Amino acid sequence: MDSIVVKGGTALQGKIKIAGAKNAALTLMPATLLSEEPLTLTNAPRLSDIQTMTALLQSLGVEVTSMQDGKVQVLSSHAMTSTTADYEIVRKMRASNLVLGPLLARHHQAIVSLPGGCAIGARPMDIHVTALEAMGAEIELKDGYLHAAAKGGLRGARVPLRFASVGATENVLMAATLAKGTTIIENAAREPEIVDLAHCLRRMGAQIEGEGTATITIEGVDRLGAATHPVVTDRIELGTYMLAPVFAGGEVECIGGRLDLVQSFAEKLDAAGVAVTETADGLKVARKNGRPTAVDVTTEVFPGFPTDLQAQMMAMLCTAKGTSVLEEKIFENRFMHAPELIRMGADIEVQGGTATVHGVERLKGAPVMATDLRASVSLILAGLAAEGETVVSRVYHLDRGYEHVEEKLSAVGAKIERVAGS
Ligand code: EPZ
Repeated sequence: MDSIVVKGGTALQGKIKIAGAKNAALTLMPATLLSEEPLTLTNAPRLSDIQTMTALLQSLGVEVTSMQDGKVQVLSSHAMTSTTADYEIVRKMRASNLVLGPLLARHHQAIVSLPGGCAIGARPMDIHVTALEAMGAEIELKDGYLHAAAKGGLRGARVPLRFASVGATENVLMAATLAKGTTIIENAAREPEIVDLAHCLRRMGAQIEGEGTATITIEGVDRLGAATHPVVTDRIELGTYMLAPVFAGGEVECIGGRLDLVQSFAEKLDAAGVAVTETADGLKVARKNGRPTAVDVTTEVFPGFPTDLQAQMMAMLCTAKGTSVLEEKIFENRFMHAPELIRMGADIEVQGGTATVHGVERLKGAPVMATDLRASVSLILAGLAAEGETVVSRVYHLDRGYEHVEEKLSAVGAKIERVAGS
């Protein structure tokens, strides 16, 4: 397993190109199942999660052609061979469950393994199931697989979500495009990745209104056609790299960054004494004067503070002036980066879903272990600010969601390298 070695103390200077959003691509790719016509995605990120989704779709008979070093993906499901998403693939990546809605909508059946828990929580699928049953699907759990069928196809319905689940909203949105009649999703998730999915489905011929608000209305159509769609910028990668100069000092311009994608995050940075400036090409970030100031953070559904930036923010607050309180409201176990940061000299107390961070002057480099995708990048960022060398092991977590992180950071002056593991 590879490790990444970071030597702290070098200020950063330069530009980082932000890639297409992992969490948009992972719902756009299964959308190909809704049409026998080809779907072309541009600005696609080059990540191991994309390779996992590709393998899953290919196991269903979807043709996936990758071009321009993975930045363009052409998908076609005109020759499907299966509607079963196997546990071996689904257990590696929860987003595999996003084939459920499209398979039901167009093939009227699906057998999808439950993803099982992961490091950050149990992550059940009850909201997905209840919503699709409201649209006429019969879904039964057998041997760890959801066996779903919709004889005669799905029908439009009012679908209130008990919680604004991103994945459930995506599954229902895709399913509703081919359902008979009108579907109204209430308490829908409002994340930019959902807006991006709606834009893509509309290009394919879907009739959708209200994406980005809590109520999305979809008029089912008989069939969807071909489309070409650019994957939206990755707001989580953007937020991650916006923090890099806050840790290390200097100034970084995130090319392709859009303030509307990270509004609540940018407001917290402003409160912490970080200058975020919109430029013609993206967002420029620098500390206003020395160490940032402590701020309190509570993760919420969009447009609130994103849970996927909580670990990175906690790492930054470890060396802020004062005490910060972070509340993780989305997942039940998303503080696993805390013990690793404590190994680097951070002063953090975790009580259930609340972490209290007492800022210290400086962290010290140490060997640390990545536990989940976002925790791993928070340790790399901490290494940029720490005295000495930090070795982050198990970086396969990192490769799931960040394109060549060591290349992007070394290009702006960071002393960082990947060491091949045994
Ligand atoms: C998406 O996961 C993202 N993944 C996650 O990003 C992100 O953290 C999450 O949304 C929240 O923003 C992708 O888009 C591929 P949810 P998803 O359904 O759809 C509970 C990353 O780092 N819940 O909004 O799985 C669930 O347990 C990943 O890129 C139910 O109880 O998130 C969780 O506590 C991590 N029942 C909460 O809701 C359900 O049926 C949020 O889940 C569904 C969800």
